[in-house]
Amino acid sequence: MLDSAIEQRAAWLRAEIERHNHAYYVLDAPTIPDAEYDRLFRELQALEAEFPALRTPDSPTLRVGAPPLKEFTSVTHGVPMLSLNNAFEEAEVRAFDARVREGIELANGEVDYAVEPKFDGLAISLTYRHGLFVRGATRGDGATGEEVTANLRTIRAIPLRLAGEGWPETLEVRGEVLMLKAEFERLNTRQREKGEKEFANPRNAAAGSLRQLDSRITAGRPLTFFAYGVGLGAGSLKVATQDEVMQVLAAWGFPVTAERRVVRGIAGLMDYFAEIGVRRKSLPFDIDGVVYKVNRLAWQDQLGFVSRAPRWAVAHKFPAEEAITQVLSIDVQVGRTGAMTPVARLQPVFVGGVTVTNATLHNEDEVRRKDVRVGDTVIVVAVMPEQRPMRPGRDLFELEPLHPPFALPTVCPECGSAVEKPADEAIARCTGGLYCPAQRKQALWHFASRRAMDIEGLGDKLIEQLVDTGLVHSPADLYRLDLATLAGLERMGEKSAQNLLAAIEASKKSSFARFIYALGIRNVGETTARDLARHLGTLDKLIAADEAALQEVPEVGPVVAASVVAFLKEPHNRSVIDALLAAGVHWPESEPEAAGPRPLAGKTLVLTGTLPTLKRDEAKALIEAAGGKVAGSVSKNTDYVVAGEEAGSKLEKAQELGVAVIDEGQLRALLTEN
Ligand code: IVH
Repeated sequence: MLDSAIEQRAAWLRAEIERHNHAYYVLDAPTIPDAEYDRLFRELQALEAEFPALRTPDSPTLRVGAPPLKEFTSVTHGVPMLSLNNAFEEAEVRAFDARVREGIELANGEVDYAVEPKFDGLAISLTYRHGLFVRGATRGDGATGEEVTANLRTIRAIPLRLAGEGWPETLEVRGEVLMLKAEFERLNTRQREKGEKEFANPRNAAAGSLRQLDSRITAGRPLTFFAYGVGLGAGSLKVATQDEVMQVLAAWGFPVTAERRVVRGIAGLMDYFAEIGVRRKSLPFDIDGVVYKVNRLAWQDQLGFVSRAPRWAVAHKFPAEEAITQVLSIDVQVGRTGAMTPVARLQPVFVGGVTVTNATLHNEDEVRRKDVRVGDTVIVVAVMPEQRPMRPGRDLFELEPLHPPFALPTVCPECGSAVEKPADEAIARCTGGLYCPAQRKQALWHFASRRAMDIEGLGDKLIEQLVDTGLVHSPADLYRLDLATLAGLERMGEKSAQNLLAAIEASKKSSFARFIYALGIRNVGETTARDLARHLGTLDKLIAADEAALQEVPEVGPVVAASVVAFLKEPHNRSVIDALLAAGVHWPESEPEAAGPRPLAGKTLVLTGTLPTLKRDEAKALIEAAGGKVAGSVSKNTDYVVAGEEAGSKLEKAQELGVAVIDEGQLRALLTEN
């Protein structure tokens, strides 16, 4: 039994510590000396250690991080996280304002805009239930992101429990995680002193810190947060403007930037842009522009969205920083799938917070189109042909270029195999497959990478040696390496060899999703691998699935399905898989996802027209959560067409094929069926 006096003391400590956190990290106005704060913190830690029942989910002691995760899980946002359209010129801002006024049918007068900096960090979503922080996720593709709750808990500027009152039952707060410039400098100094890798800029440092499976590492990184909007729960805020939304968020304990304002019309927007442009360098955080949002929420609703961006907001970006340098050479890199990419090696130049030494030229057509040549002067990669080095031509009075136009080699520079470039594709590929050492090295690197089999210590240089000495041909060979062989390699001591062997051994215990991802199937990224694992459950089922069966998996379309089938049909790939299993690679078997009722399992729906209350993305999310799949076009495999107002050709097609047509009400009925 817990003494209620102890409980009270713990509750008081929690509230007190969070009050000081808020003062320090949100208001930037510390209220007590560090030593006193530390004392309170340690007292709470000690109490919780003695009486584990005191550990509440909003305890500030959770801010020191939790044991590492094996992988991130993916989460579906309650309301999709949108992106913003960009404007670079005043004319584009004027066009935006004109569209806004047209959309709200405002013939005369000017629109009020809530304006704020465009933070150069990472977008995240924080979910609160009954005022308690329960989940945090990255933006991901906008519909689903990665759950990073434990990492976000370590950010002191993020409230674990909301202040004030009147919060909706479920609230999603959207904002940006970032690292202040001064903190970034301090972090890099520390990294340098420890002999560890420095970060290129605050954004990369913030991203690298947030995407740690071990939140104790995140806890040691000086991250902060600014809120800029609300997802789920926005409808139940009792406010009429964007500005009031921000005030409510501040009252609930969220940091909001002091740089925000409400301005009127184009003149107000352009003045703000100029003002922030001047102050950009002296702001404590990096920004890459400013954001303009129609202030009145009723107008935001009326304006709505086009594809993934709101019509009521725009990002006015600062011009990209530029620097001039020279092309030293153009090399060809051979990727994991044989894709040959020309890369310009540049005279190193510092621009936009990073030192640029290479610029990928994407593909041969691009190089030709831009006509980049060795010796050219470039603005990062925009070619300046007027400065091309020239020499006297055959005709005495004419000059000709010193260097010829770039041409891809006709054989792979790495393995001598033929190069193939289908007429309808921009990318040339080496046909060597895993015979090509470059492709093999990339495949191994991918296999061992952190999000795949996570073999720590198997870096580029080592892979290079293992492949070049013929010790490793396929990923399965990794599991045959022994201590003597490894210790005999260059720059490899006995201790590192032991560590590597241990890491290889540990990687045998994996997950089905990681295994699929590690295989390096073309078009199968991490998210797709996870979807496949979740929906098929076992390797046997994956191997047995044909293209139609694969397309039953949400988000898997014909291209991915074809890649998976082609990969698994290849005997060579099958024998690598067999060898990996024989070597002891395994994962917990799970049944295909069965959580919750899935009334639309196996059904394909097509959305058309404007539904009365559901936005397109919302309808899609609901259907997928119920196990259904949303397709882009109507075919005889479509089960239902959900039609709203102004439904067009898809509705006609449905009628022609005799596919059932339903409205939003009927869709909602289907979703709740059991
Ligand atoms: S509002 C519906 N406000 O910009 C509007 N976004 O392209 C949603 N961003 O990755 C965004 N600062 O993380 C908004 N003050 C700000 C922002 C901001 C940075 C980022 C956001 C997203 C991107 C949108």
